[in-house]
Amino acid sequence: MPHALWPSGSPEPPRTTGPPPAPSPTTPPAPLPAPTTRPADVLVIGGGIIGLVTAWRTAQRGLRVTVLDPAPGGGAAQVAAGMLAAVTELHYGEQALLALNLESARRYPDFAAELDEASGSDIGYRACGTLAVALDADDRAHLRELHALQQRSGLESEWLTGRECRRLEPMLAPGVRGGLRVDGDHQVDPRRLASALLTACERAGVTFHRDRAARLLVDRDRAVGVALADGTRLAADQTVLAAGSLSGRLDGLPPSVRPPVRPVKGQVIRLRVPAPYAPFLSRTVRAVVRGSHVYLVPRESGELVIGATSEELGWDTTVTAGGVYELLRDAHELVPGITELPLTETRAGLRPGSPDNAPLLGPTELPGLLLATGHYRNGVLLTPLTGDVLAAALTDGALPEEAHPFTPARFTPVPQEQPV
Ligand code: GLY
Repeated sequence: MPHALWPSGSPEPPRTTGPPPAPSPTTPPAPLPAPTTRPADVLVIGGGIIGLVTAWRTAQRGLRVTVLDPAPGGGAAQVAAGMLAAVTELHYGEQALLALNLESARRYPDFAAELDEASGSDIGYRACGTLAVALDADDRAHLRELHALQQRSGLESEWLTGRECRRLEPMLAPGVRGGLRVDGDHQVDPRRLASALLTACERAGVTFHRDRAARLLVDRDRAVGVALADGTRLAADQTVLAAGSLSGRLDGLPPSVRPPVRPVKGQVIRLRVPAPYAPFLSRTVRAVVRGSHVYLVPRESGELVIGATSEELGWDTTVTAGGVYELLRDAHELVPGITELPLTETRAGLRPGSPDNAPLLGPTELPGLLLATGHYRNGVLLTPLTGDVLAAALTDGALPEEAHPFTPARFTPVPQEQPV
């Protein structure tokens, strides 16, 4: 997966040497040398969809924005399927995240229309709905639980028999035992989204610096930009760390503001539905098969995306025979006809997981440093809202209320009282 901080294809992000020794409390810190570029109002580290939407929305508000990334437009969005699955990916104990996800889903139609206009392209927003189905008694019990949770949460979903599911999607296997129709969970094409955001940023006057951040620069207890590997300094009034799963690895971050994000590997495959077979599926179809999530996301272009594994394997982005086998096996149980389709791509990406599966949004304890990371399974869904709340925080200095439960402060270690 292309990295935000490090060039695409590096299996292991290169490390720079450790931070310089801290000055003694009595010695004032030496002033930093003059910046080697004109300071920006805002520097965004990471040009994936989260960094780009932050840059675009902030530039629209009149600030001078620079994005630092060796390959902007890359990152996890190049792998993601693009489900906007606030309702079908609901989990126990994640009510606050549900509210955030629903709010971003609500903003998607206007966001897509505005971005299409700003970029002169089409991000593939498709209000197609989702059908979550069960293949055996265990899957059905799991889906019944999800339905009950959705109802308790006031969400719209409808229980269907297997026959009703097949009436909606005739390519489904005869063994489908029931399902949940969720008409509010849609899709977007994340690759088109990334490319449109890149164009919109360029048109809004965002500057791109195609390089990687080596170290955060801190001066008098304030973030003042970054240093690159060759020593170039990019100075900025405010710096946003939006580097996906790599966000916790930037040198120079004080421990109290280092985001606790980790990579969670997802393998995804892409098939092509030839014109005579289209529409193969009319909506996203998903299931939990023997405990593993599988989903099939059909695009209007004929692309059929099948995902995704979820693996805690560090920085590994190898596509494995086992991963592809499991996806094809489970997808084939749901929709047997997929074996006839050409296989066009296999790929693995890294989701930026956080300890509570929710993003870290807004200012940190270190003045001048904000975070937009840790979006885990919801990066594409949360793109519109992230852009809005970060741009507001950067321009007004106040994080909008909907993001308050997601400030980085929830992970700030509480200082231990010293025994007297
Ligand atoms: N939200 C889908 C995934 O992360 O696989």
